[in-house]
Amino acid sequence: MAIRHFLDLWQLEASELRAILDDAHAMKAVRRGWPKGRVDDGAPLDGHVLAMIFEKSSTRTRTSFDVGIRQLGGSSIVMNSGDMQLGRGESIGDTARVLSRYVDLVMIRANDHGDVEDFAESAGVPVINGLTDRSHPCQIMADLMTLEEHGVDLRGARLAWVGDGNNVCSSFIHASAKFGFTLAVGTPERYAPEEDDVELAREMQGRIELYDTAEDAVAGADVVIADTFVSMGDTDADERLDLLEPFAVTEELMDLAQPGAKFLHCLPAHRGEEVDSEVIDGPSSLVFDEAENRLHAQKAIMRWCLDK
Ligand code: CP
Ligand code: NVA
Repeated sequence: MAIRHFLDLWQLEASELRAILDDAHAMKAVRRGWPKGRVDDGAPLDGHVLAMIFEKSSTRTRTSFDVGIRQLGGSSIVMNSGDMQLGRGESIGDTARVLSRYVDLVMIRANDHGDVEDFAESAGVPVINGLTDRSHPCQIMADLMTLEEHGVDLRGARLAWVGDGNNVCSSFIHASAKFGFTLAVGTPERYAPEEDDVELAREMQGRIELYDTAEDAVAGADVVIADTFVSMGDTDADERLDLLEPFAVTEELMDLAQPGAKFLHCLPAHRGEEVDSEVIDGPSSLVFDEAENRLHAQKAIMRWCLDK
């Protein structure tokens, strides 16, 4: 069987993604009230080792993968790329081949998406994309799980992304065709999503609508999604903050969405920049359930990768 890498949502079948979400919901339900460190019944990844490589900062991804592999009965090694020989010029290919002799699964957070693809190309074990400059697929699985938990039927739902058409936005674009929701994206022209992603999604019958105001994108939406205006690795912070200011999610903007619309943000958030406190700390916000669900979704992704 081919190695099951989890690099981008468009590469998986809709049925596989559906099965991963179903597994995540089921695993979460069973654990309700359990201590966080207790191993799941049957320890599905007993004896398995996960290596995590970080080229960029992380709170949620690092912690949820680490706790997640323990709950599955496995263990983890966390490495900052700067402490590895990778940071001194050892090739990605050699690093991938070597690590594949020690561990069963690798998660990488990298600056350059191509590096994760190169790593997977040389690896003898599954590789999971833990965020790159181009995408953040694990995040979107947790986000969609959260919406389902709060009663949103993804098929036919209208989701609005406002702000920067960044890596997280790209993974929502990839997901639209797979889960059957419409994605309305509102960005300044300069920070519009990658054309390749939009074309790819549309080829797969994804319904992607592009707008240049936040108001047009949010009108009638069931869900409003924001992310930081300045992502890790962005070097034009002043210009971004200037151009993106009209795309901040305020209570007035939320009023244009459907009554009872939900608010998502992958975190970390900057209150007063991309979202007002009244929204992110208000009743429409699902952000902490969303953060928790990184744990459950990633456990299901790891099990899918190892077919266990
Ligand atoms: N949302 C997310 O990926 O958070 P971290 O950067 O803290 O991992
Ligand atoms: N777009 C953000 C997401 C952080 C989880 C970034 O890349 O920094």
